Amino acid sequence: MKNGKLGIGIIGAGNIAQNAHIPSYLRQKNVEIIGICDMNEARTREVADRYNIKYVAQDFNQLLSIDEIDAVSICTSNDVHHPAAVAAANAGKHILCEKPMAMTVAEAESMMNAAKRNNIIFMMGFVNRFRADTNVIKAFSNAGKFGEIYAGKVCWLRRRGTPLGWFTNLSKSGGGPVIDIGVHIIDLAWYLMGKPNPTRVSAVTYSKIGNYQTKGVSRWVALDTENLVFETEDSASGLIRFDNGASLLFEVSWAINAKDTGMYVQVFGSKAGARTNPLEIYGEEENYLVDSHPIVKDENAFDNQVEHFINCIKEGRQPICPAEDGYLVQKILNGIYDSAKLGKEIEL
Ligand SMILES: NC(=O)c1ccc[n+]([C@@H]2O[C@H](COP(=O)([O-])OP(=O)(O)OC[C@H]3O[C@@H](n4cnc5c(N)ncnc54)[C@H](O)[C@@H]3O)[C@@H](O)[C@H]2O)c1
Repeated sequence: MKNGKLGIGIIGAGNIAQNAHIPSYLRQKNVEIIGICDMNEARTREVADRYNIKYVAQDFNQLLSIDEIDAVSICTSNDVHHPAAVAAANAGKHILCEKPMAMTVAEAESMMNAAKRNNIIFMMGFVNRFRADTNVIKAFSNAGKFGEIYAGKVCWLRRRGTPLGWFTNLSKSGGGPVIDIGVHIIDLAWYLMGKPNPTRVSAVTYSKIGNYQTKGVSRWVALDTENLVFETEDSASGLIRFDNGASLLFEVSWAINAKDTGMYVQVFGSKAGARTNPLEIYGEEENYLVDSHPIVKDENAFDNQVEHFINCIKEGRQPICPAEDGYLVQKILNGIYDSAKLGKEIEL
């Protein structure tokens, strides 16, 4: 840290860097974005000029050699999370890594080991853990209000919402909606269920819609959309089992001929249950069923996520979403693909 300020480097200057990470860092006190790197030179310069960022680079190793940088956000396509994270850890930089952690379990394991070996703070960008409604459910859970949480159900169905760009290119993404948006809801439920150890997965995936020409719908567009390919699944569903007997049912799609559900996460406990989107608690009092609607102020989860990352670095403590969590979630995600491929339940 120079002059009491934490120096940040941004790896990948695309959508999530511009719309979430950079603005969130700029809203923090005693933090300065020192450098930015993207293989697209024009994009790097444009973003650096817009935010007055001192150093620009095309190669992340160049960025990582800058002493003033204490920590980096990894905001590239999924294929670069692993090499960038290992290089950053070896350079002694703390890491906030966008989801999914990696494309394979082996990559995630190597990132986790690099973080441990170099004694740096590695935080997964599981941004939904930083939402105001998540904090309410977690507080109720910590207070024992749900009793034993023995099951969960998560759903995120987009009728036509396949992202454009590298997301559908298997060698750059590692998978479709499972790895892109399934990761958010599966992680959130797993976190709210108390992070039980995943043991088995049974899943199916389908690629039936692919590249569609539907009018009047919107989608997430990566900044590079040349050479589009559609190699990933467009929907999936299945069941994840845990060593404490708990289970998690999931359904996810980028494209499906069904009603858009948006994202929601439900947890079922022996005393009460809860769901997000909208936030509701389902309980029983004096032998009557009671639904409650805790009142929360909307918060910017990306700001909360970055603030937590900064505080963990300054105070030398582990984040609530360490590399180990990214690794276990990666095991579930890749287990879903393995089970779908084999057509049967698999051990994780
Ligand atoms: N947390 C969320 O809700 C959320 C939302 C969207 C995307 N994401 C994640 O953020 C990441 C980026 O997604 P995006 O939508 O911003 O994509 P994007 O394509 O808009 O941006 C990615 C950038 O990375 C750059 N890049 C790729 N390889 C590089 C390399 N080797 N070195 C330097 N730069 C490189 C590209 O040139 C591009 O500018 C993905 O992992 C995605 O899953 C998270």
